[in-house]
Amino acid sequence: MNAAVLSNEEAIQVSPLSAHIGAEIGGVDLTRPLSAQQVGAIRAALLKWRVIFFREQFLSHEQHVAFSAQFGELTVGHPVFGHVEGHPQIYSISKFRKATRFDGQALLRPWTGWHTDVTAAVNPPFASILRGVTIPPYGGDTQWTNLVIAYEKLSAPLRRFVDGLRGVHRFAPPAGARGTDAFAQAVEERALVAEHPLVRVHPETGERALYVSPGFLKTIADVTPRESQALLELLWEHVTRPEFTVRFKWEAGSVAFWDNRSTAHLAPSDIFDLDFDRQLYRTTLVGDVPVGPDGRASVAIEGSPVGAAAATALN
Ligand code: SIN
Repeated sequence: MNAAVLSNEEAIQVSPLSAHIGAEIGGVDLTRPLSAQQVGAIRAALLKWRVIFFREQFLSHEQHVAFSAQFGELTVGHPVFGHVEGHPQIYSISKFRKATRFDGQALLRPWTGWHTDVTAAVNPPFASILRGVTIPPYGGDTQWTNLVIAYEKLSAPLRRFVDGLRGVHRFAPPAGARGTDAFAQAVEERALVAEHPLVRVHPETGERALYVSPGFLKTIADVTPRESQALLELLWEHVTRPEFTVRFKWEAGSVAFWDNRSTAHLAPSDIFDLDFDRQLYRTTLVGDVPVGPDGRASVAIEGSPVGAAAATALN
């Protein structure tokens, strides 16, 4: 999108933050409805830079939902862990991941890791929009990585090899970590397991992304357990190479908006070594079913597609 074609009030400024991923967007007030040109320019920046950041946007839950709805249909806050009471489309991300479960009980999830949001579902959300409310004075940064450049930087023989593979994604704590009993119960009650292609063709740009959401992708299909483990370790290490990533320092009023089809991200763990509180809120937009380079779509092994919030909220 060429900013010059927009009127002065509508032009947004796009300031890239690294070679391959991340740009800060200025010149727009997210508390107000956007023009069609502004929506188009923000969407173009999202596709190009994968994750875009806004500063000093002090949104209420209602404004957060209204901003998100200009880019797609909102899902329920989280299909497994629930939503903020009274706000079915908002998911609370606090230091201890305290969410209100669907039965109204509090849930703590004290671990994190590199992941792409909700890839245990057959149609993971296409985008996530996270806003910072209570931010530590230091620590608590989030990192994102560009899965398209990660695919492109594999050697040609390895690209051809992974093009035909598929992987099984499920909700489960990473090796060596243990969820709380409430976490285990939520995961059991709302099991989500999906088989996705290891390489996803981006539905809007046609680019190939290495779709290896480290937190959810547990095994590669049709290979031996040892082959699966060795290959996953190689790919996870590759997708998190520093030159594919950007690191964001939050402030109260910051908003991060990322394309979940071409990125993975890492929530911070250093906050657990600090006494400061950290509170953010997230919305996610309904996604389509991924398709591999061979045209094969993902399949659900357990659970249903993640639909719009109105259909599933407060059940
Ligand atoms: C997330 O994983 O969506 C949240 C990232 C964060 O807490 O920084």
